[in-house]
Amino acid sequence: MNPALETLMSAFSTEEGLPVPARAFFLGAQPHPALREWPDITGWQPLKPLADSWDRAGFPRIDETPPNTWPLVLILPGKSRDETLAWFAMARRHLAPGGTILVAMPNTAGAARFEKEFSRATGTLGSIQKNKCRAFHSAEDGTWDEALFSEWTALDDFKNIPETGFVTRAGIFSCDHIDPGSQLLADHLPVHLHGTVADLGAGWGFLTKSALRKCPNITRIDLYEADARALDCARRNLAGWNSPDETTSVDIRYLWHDVTTGLSATYDAIIMNPPFHTGQATDTGLGRAFLTNAVPALKRGGRLLLVANRQLPYEGILDACNLSWRKTVEDKTYKILHAEKR
Ligand SMILES: C[S@@+](CC[C@H](N)C(=O)[O-])C[C@H]1O[C@@H](n2cnc3c(N)ncnc32)[C@H](O)[C@@H]1O
Repeated sequence: MNPALETLMSAFSTEEGLPVPARAFFLGAQPHPALREWPDITGWQPLKPLADSWDRAGFPRIDETPPNTWPLVLILPGKSRDETLAWFAMARRHLAPGGTILVAMPNTAGAARFEKEFSRATGTLGSIQKNKCRAFHSAEDGTWDEALFSEWTALDDFKNIPETGFVTRAGIFSCDHIDPGSQLLADHLPVHLHGTVADLGAGWGFLTKSALRKCPNITRIDLYEADARALDCARRNLAGWNSPDETTSVDIRYLWHDVTTGLSATYDAIIMNPPFHTGQATDTGLGRAFLTNAVPALKRGGRLLLVANRQLPYEGILDACNLSWRKTVEDKTYKILHAEKR
C-alpha cells in the first residue's frame, strides 16, 4: 500500500467526501483499484517504473501536458520543495473554472508545511489526516492568488548549475550541484574506455559528458534514465555532441527506461552511480538490481565502473556474478569499483 495514495483516495470514500467527476487529471499518477470505477482519468508521470505500472493497470497517460483543463486535478508530489510547488502551479494551469485540486503527501515529506503553502494560494481548504499523511483540497472560486501560482510556475524552469554550463530542473537527482560521488568517478574514468558504453541512471548527463570528454574512442553511449525530466536536461547538456558540425561522431541515445527491467543492448563498458533511494527511504535493492542487470549486458572483456557510498554492499554481487573486480579508489565517503567480465 502507498499511504499517500490511500489517503488521496479516501477523500472520495465517504458520503460527505468529494464527488467523483466526469473527467480528472492525475499528476504523479499511480494506479489504485478504486480508480477503475472512475469514468475518465488521465495520468502524467515522469518516472518510468511508476508510468509503467499506471500503463499496466490500463489507464490513459500523457507525456507532455496539453493545454486542456479538467474539473479535478489530483497530485501525488515528488520530494523537493520547488518540484512540489511547481506541481501545484501545473495543477492550477490544468484546472477548469470552479474545479478542485486535491493533493496528498506523507507527513515526513512536509505535508503540513505544503498544506500551508497551498492555502496561501487558495484560501480555504478541506483537509484529511490519515496513514501518517495529509490530503488537502480546495475548489477554485475566483479568489485564488494567481500571482503566487505564477511564481511557482517559474520554479520549474531550466536552471544553470553556476560555473558548470549544466542545466537541471527542480525535482531531479542532484539538481543544484554535481554529485561528489559522480565527480569522483569522472575524475577516475580510464581514458581507454571505448566502443559502446551505457550510463545507467544517467540523470542530467554529468557522467556521460565526463566520459565523452575524457575517452575519445567511445563510439556510442546510451543514457538509461527513469526520470523523463532528467533525460530532458541531459539532451540539453549534451546537445553539442550531437550536432553534425562537431568533430566527434559519437552516437548518443536517450532511453527513458527502468534499468531494473534489463538493458536493451550489450556494451564494452557500463558506468554508473546507482540510486540507493526509493522516495524517502534507503533502498539498496535498487542499486543491486542495477548491478545484476548490467552484468548480462556486458560483452566478454567488458568493464563495469561504479561509484557508491563506502558502506553499500556491492562487492558480493560482483562476486556472485563471476566478475573480477578491484576497488580502485576509496575516500571517507565513496569507493570506486572496477569490474571486468572475463
Ligand atoms: C545517484 S543518481 C546518478 C545520476 C547521474 N548519473 C549523476 O551522476 O548525476 C541515480 C539516477 O538513477 C535514476 N534512477 C532511479 N531509479 C531508476 C531506474 N529504475 N531505472 C533507471 N534510472 C533510475 C535516478 O533518477 C537518478 O538520476
